[in-house]
Amino acid sequence: MAPPSTVILGTGSYAPKRVLHNEELALQVDTTDEWIRTRTGIRERRIADPDESTSDIALHAARAALADSEVDASEIDLLIVATITPDYTCPATACLLQTKLGLRSNTACFDLNAACSGFVYSLDVASAMLSSGRYKHALVIGVEKMSSIVDWQDRNTCVLFGDGAGAVVLGHSEERQIGILGTRLGAFGEGSELLYIPKGGAKSPLTPESLAARENTLRMKGKEVFKLAVRGMEDACREILEQHQLKADQIALVIPHQANLRIIEAISHYLGLPMERFFVNVERYGNTSAASIPIALDEARRAGRIQRGDYTLLVAFGAGLTYGSALIRW
Ligand code: ACO
Repeated sequence: MAPPSTVILGTGSYAPKRVLHNEELALQVDTTDEWIRTRTGIRERRIADPDESTSDIALHAARAALADSEVDASEIDLLIVATITPDYTCPATACLLQTKLGLRSNTACFDLNAACSGFVYSLDVASAMLSSGRYKHALVIGVEKMSSIVDWQDRNTCVLFGDGAGAVVLGHSEERQIGILGTRLGAFGEGSELLYIPKGGAKSPLTPESLAARENTLRMKGKEVFKLAVRGMEDACREILEQHQLKADQIALVIPHQANLRIIEAISHYLGLPMERFFVNVERYGNTSAASIPIALDEARRAGRIQRGDYTLLVAFGAGLTYGSALIRW
């Protein structure tokens, strides 16, 4: 017998209160509001307080998703936190969050590192684990405190990122052909050093010199990443549509990773799908990495842009360089 469908039972999101506008950033580094808006579409981003940790940010989104799903925290038996900004290198942020949420001890808890594609990767993993029949309810969270790994003196990167979290609660449904219908994941590993943190890992532990050179922060070759992002996201969309024998115009809403409005416009152009079918909130949050898609998903649902029977396509690209898409029917 085919396993039951994996469906999204609830969504939630959270962004720290502090808003950092482009104009304010332009007082810190050599940039302008006009440059940032025209090159990226970003107007502002949210920045966590220094004492607000990644697990704190995740907690708000998780509670909102649980409330929306009407699933009690005691019913969660799988918790996946997608992040590249964990509270600690060890242990997993998921274990810290388990305690904050009061989840039971026989909950499987782990972090997943696939950068901006982390939420889509996590959906695939959670969906497969639920399909095995060994888990009943999963909480999947994309969360980042990007402000903690950004070089605030580097105008090439610091203008792009923000903090936040989005979460979903997943469960089973006996109804067929709904929920997470499929995913398509991949990576261009040969491009890993186009977007990475050079020092601080096991390969190159931090030294006073590398710390002084801020090599514990994100470095990116923007132009190269831009081109691969458009290619990876377009391919991930086309391949999943082909797999499910759908045409692009059957997708009611695409929820793309929110890195740059120009990347989203390029995908809209190549897929031949108008921008009205794309959910965009990059102007308010910047790139929140793994949190970007679940925040957008939650906002799209709450804005009434997702209706029963609709097909939604999630598509992401990030450090790794990873990419992925997920097809959902509601
Ligand atoms: N303000 C003013 N000038 C700037 C700024 C800034 N904030 N940043 C860069 N510039 C300058 C550059 O120095 C360069 O000047 P030069 O020509 O004198 O050398 C000029 O502007 C053009 O820079 P480009 O890098 O060519 O600008 P581009 O149009 O490519 O835009 C951007 C840069 C926004 C970074 C773009 O390349 C991009 O969005 N890349 C993809 C980002 C992405 O998708 N990342 C993946 C996910 S992130 C993750 O996984 C964690």
